[in-house]
Amino acid sequence: MSHFPLNCTENCTENHPENRAVNSWAAKSLKRVALLTTLCIGATLALSNCGKKDETSTTFATVYTETLSTSCVACHDTPGSGAQNGAGLNFSSQALAYSTLTAGNVTATTSVGTCGSVRLVVASSPSTSYLLGTIIQGYSSSSFAGVTNCTPYAGHFSSLNLSSTQQNNLVSWIQGGAQNN
Ligand code: HEC
Repeated sequence: MSHFPLNCTENCTENHPENRAVNSWAAKSLKRVALLTTLCIGATLALSNCGKKDETSTTFATVYTETLSTSCVACHDTPGSGAQNGAGLNFSSQALAYSTLTAGNVTATTSVGTCGSVRLVVASSPSTSYLLGTIIQGYSSSSFAGVTNCTPYAGHFSSLNLSSTQQNNLVSWIQGGAQNN
């Protein structure tokens, strides 16, 4: 591609020093325009995604049907083994699952001593929702939700084997405001 000045009448070769200067100036301008265009498209996409958060997040009905009522209810019912270890969760109906997940703090024996101030679900905040710390390894930490020495119960990671769809939908439900829908 040639970027000779439009009014070039003599010395019109790419190697002439004057033209090289013009050429490199033109190339820089083109790069700037390309960069700006990329930034604008990025910003537009980011802004339009913000408004759509609630429409695209997973509903609680999906989370309940796909995961809680299948992979979890065997223990988190009354008197499931989760209940026996002090967990207040009850997944025997969608309504009870929602209220026991969103109403309270950690209660089960392994972690209640250090994590008792941590909530099971914090709307729009997956990283501080203890529920995710117990079922998705990447969300666990030794100072969960900023609480020193709070490490979520780790017994579920190896035994439950949730699919990435199940995990992503749980994250999406919380990210979208943990709505009762
Ligand atoms: C095989 C039985 C079993 C299954 C299946 C199971 N859990 Fe648990 N769960 C337990 C036990 C036992 C505890 C208590 C652990 C402890 O001592 O802290 C527990 C604790 C929890 C806690 C912590 C509750 C609290 O208040 O401290 C959460 C959250 C949890 N389970 C979520 C789930 C989810 C979500 C599923 C399904 C994806 C699930 N569990 C499946 C047995 C089970």
